[in-house]
Amino acid sequence: MPRTLVTAALPYANGPVHIGHLAGAYIPSDIYVRFLRANGEDVKFICGSDEHGVPITLRARKEGITPQEVVDKYHTIIKESFAAFGISFDIYHRTSEKIHHETAAAFFSTLYDKKIFTEEESEQYYDEEAKMFLADRYIVGTCPNCGNTNAYGDQCEKCGKSLSPSELINPHSQLSGKPPVLKKTKHWYLPLDTMQKDWLDTWIRSHEGDWKNNVFGQCKSWLDQGLQPRAVTRDLDWGVPVPLAEATGKVLYVWFDAPIGYISATKALFANTNDPKGWEKYWKDKDTRLLHFIGKDNIVFHCIIFPAMLKAHGEFILPENVPANEFLNLEGDKISTSRNWAVWLHEYLEEFPGKQDVLRYTLTATAPETKDNDFTWKDFQARNNSELVAILGNFVNRTLVLTQKYYGGKVPAHHDLQDDDKACIQAMKSIPEKISENILNFRFRDALFELMNLARIGNKYLAENEPWKIQATNPERVETVLYISLEITAYLAQLMEPFLPFTSATLLKMLDLEPKKWKDFLGKQILRPGHQLREPSLLFEKIEDAVIDVQLQKLETSKAMNQLSNATVTPSKPSTSFDDFQKMDLRVGTIVSAERVPKTDKLLKLTIDTGIDTRTVVSGIAADYSPENIIGQQVTILVNLEPRKIKGIESQGMILMAENAAGELAFVAPVKNMDNGGTIR
Ligand code: MF3
Ligand code: ZN
Repeated sequence: MPRTLVTAALPYANGPVHIGHLAGAYIPSDIYVRFLRANGEDVKFICGSDEHGVPITLRARKEGITPQEVVDKYHTIIKESFAAFGISFDIYHRTSEKIHHETAAAFFSTLYDKKIFTEEESEQYYDEEAKMFLADRYIVGTCPNCGNTNAYGDQCEKCGKSLSPSELINPHSQLSGKPPVLKKTKHWYLPLDTMQKDWLDTWIRSHEGDWKNNVFGQCKSWLDQGLQPRAVTRDLDWGVPVPLAEATGKVLYVWFDAPIGYISATKALFANTNDPKGWEKYWKDKDTRLLHFIGKDNIVFHCIIFPAMLKAHGEFILPENVPANEFLNLEGDKISTSRNWAVWLHEYLEEFPGKQDVLRYTLTATAPETKDNDFTWKDFQARNNSELVAILGNFVNRTLVLTQKYYGGKVPAHHDLQDDDKACIQAMKSIPEKISENILNFRFRDALFELMNLARIGNKYLAENEPWKIQATNPERVETVLYISLEITAYLAQLMEPFLPFTSATLLKMLDLEPKKWKDFLGKQILRPGHQLREPSLLFEKIEDAVIDVQLQKLETSKAMNQLSNATVTPSKPSTSFDDFQKMDLRVGTIVSAERVPKTDKLLKLTIDTGIDTRTVVSGIAADYSPENIIGQQVTILVNLEPRKIKGIESQGMILMAENAAGELAFVAPVKNMDNGGTIR
């Protein structure tokens, strides 16, 4: 019997998952695995959280918690979201587990002992104050392309340009704020250049025409450029420690350890069974088909780097296929966590309880299988209302309700078959074949379309025969029509399971049937005359405009917030010395009187008690504050600013104000009342 190991990309545990994740890797892999299971095949479905890497340490820093706390939090959220959507992993593991650390370290050691790696010293950016090497992400500065002052050392998120830290203008460390310096460090490299010559090039090119075009095309372009050695270690304190005495303070590169996570998860799946070595046949037996489901940003790692690692190790099989999807956009825009431009699964589950299959359906029907695709809420609504409700739901409901009404829910027997009855029987034969063929070739949209065709055929058959009109005159014909319609319904219930597992379960229950292996019903009759059905209920319900408008409104809010925050930030000034900063004498003061400066719009003449003295300050805050409202307000005042004349009044100091993108001003004052003259430093 064919044996298959299916993996789905391990999502980073640094945020929740969204529709892009589902559409890219998890729904296609789930359909595939459910289909194999329905065919009685030996398959294991592996996934887990990718819990290492720089983004996780950065997130921890931002939230003021430890990296472990970050991954604990998101691992749980992600795992629950997948479970709620029926993604039927055999195991959802995590790379912070002991078994993974051991497996990944041993993998590295094997390659090290086989002298696969090359070692190289290079200069890397270092933060002398934090005493740490800086991953590119830890270095920020001004983008040479668009002027964004918050560009990272590897990429500017505003204009999308990939960067290296040396290209940043005014680079500084996110840790200390200081400019980074270059320092020597040693790392271990996977020699992809020699591997390309030895076997990798031939192996990848042998998959032309068999791997998807988008996948092969990306690989080919990497090969054509010529592969370079890749460092598999990093100077970082979060990850799998490099198992070498001379490598303290270094960890395995996240893209080295994460795919090994597929192996450790498979081990974990068998660990507490009576067959703890059971995992080996899925990774070492030449008869196993290894398939990686991923999004397109993961192609190079799964088609080139991980196979190179597996081959170098020597004990493992290589992937047979890597069915990667392109990207899913949302309402015409790239999905983005930082811009909150996403449909989050945990939010969908709250807002559309019980409607997991509607999203599964939409994401399959619009899956970015060959090119980037767009998710829109209007399309989601239309697919629900005019496909799931109007075609599938309507057909099933009419069939079941009429059966209740005419026969008390007992399946009738058929009589002589006409051509249109036979055409339906033929469709029940040919459509499952087309579904299978499409699924096995990773064409899930087409497979789903075929499934819906069976419902379309049933719908048309009912509409043409109008059993509700002829029950009085030709009850025999009605028995045949409903018998055929019920068979189609039963076929749909079984065949839809990989795509719409929740609806399948509900419908099977109404039909009082068990899920069956496909070979046990294909080409056969599922329902026996006399079989008693249960009470039917509606499978799908219409989604109203108001519900969709709420979602669109949510996205509008994200957009507005982004525009605001994009507009706001003025570039940071060149760095200043502490001594220069110390020269400013900043004090707490209180406004004791205020009046407008005549013939001006903006200026107020303030009298301030500075603790040292009482003095006059002219301040441009009249658009934001009226004089009568600010008496008694505490402020921060720069008391040693040279006096200057403004509109004929001598201003003896300056009040500090905060300003936002809209130009609104606010006082900068201590958060509790302080004595006047208190210093600010
Ligand atoms: N965490 C990666 C991402 O979200 C995927 C890792 S897949 C694995 O893009 F193979 F490395 F596990
Ligand atoms: Zn930029």
